[in-house]
Amino acid sequence: MTDVNSVAYWDATYERHAREGTTAITVAERMPAWQGLLPLLPGSGSLLDVGCAGGEFLHFVRQHRPRLELWGIDHSAVAIRLQTEPSATYLCGDGVSLELCADETFDVVYSGHFIEHVADPTQAFASQLRVLRPDGLLIVLFPHGDGPYVEHVWSDLTLDTIAGWLSEAGFSDFGCLPLIEGSPVDQAVITARRRSL
Ligand SMILES: C[S@@+](CC[C@H](N)C(=O)[O-])C[C@H]1O[C@@H](n2cnc3c(N)ncnc32)[C@H](O)[C@@H]1O
Repeated sequence: MTDVNSVAYWDATYERHAREGTTAITVAERMPAWQGLLPLLPGSGSLLDVGCAGGEFLHFVRQHRPRLELWGIDHSAVAIRLQTEPSATYLCGDGVSLELCADETFDVVYSGHFIEHVADPTQAFASQLRVLRPDGLLIVLFPHGDGPYVEHVWSDLTLDTIAGWLSEAGFSDFGCLPLIEGSPVDQAVITARRRSL
């Protein structure tokens, strides 16, 4: 059996969805969270979506932020081939090291339902800190208090868990949005800033 969370696993998942005409991401389930974080997004500058899948979030953002430069990174080439937002730039590579991304490049780094799949979240957040411009904004959307799930390395995540990882990675100035309940799991959004020294 293919390792869960490996590139092969995600490629096979997205290939199956493409074959069956379904989507790995149910946009309707994400929508209440995406609507909630929209006011946080600037009108211009650049945004990176880490674990962007087929660019569904980027497509949503484009409808509301026509001047924002959009970037997405995912390790699944199959996901990226299914991209839904042609105005975005897609990178196929590791979202933990972000080795394809230069230092201090983005005004906003967003990840949605990504961090619970990562073995070393502190390393992932440290990379996100590195690619953010000084005073740049980090936005993390994650399933809140979700029980064990086959693809999740981490379960029962809370705002405190994520804030702990973010602190270890060097972030400060945390904020959160009201919990988004249901649809179908509770979702939470935590924000942080890369502060200039
Ligand atoms: C559960 S999906 C979430 C997709 C989307 N962000 C959303 O909100 O639904 C997790 C995504 O992260 C990607 N992913 C997991 N580990 C990764 C890694 N180390 N580097 C890059 N992408 C990764 C997977 O390929 C998958 O597209």
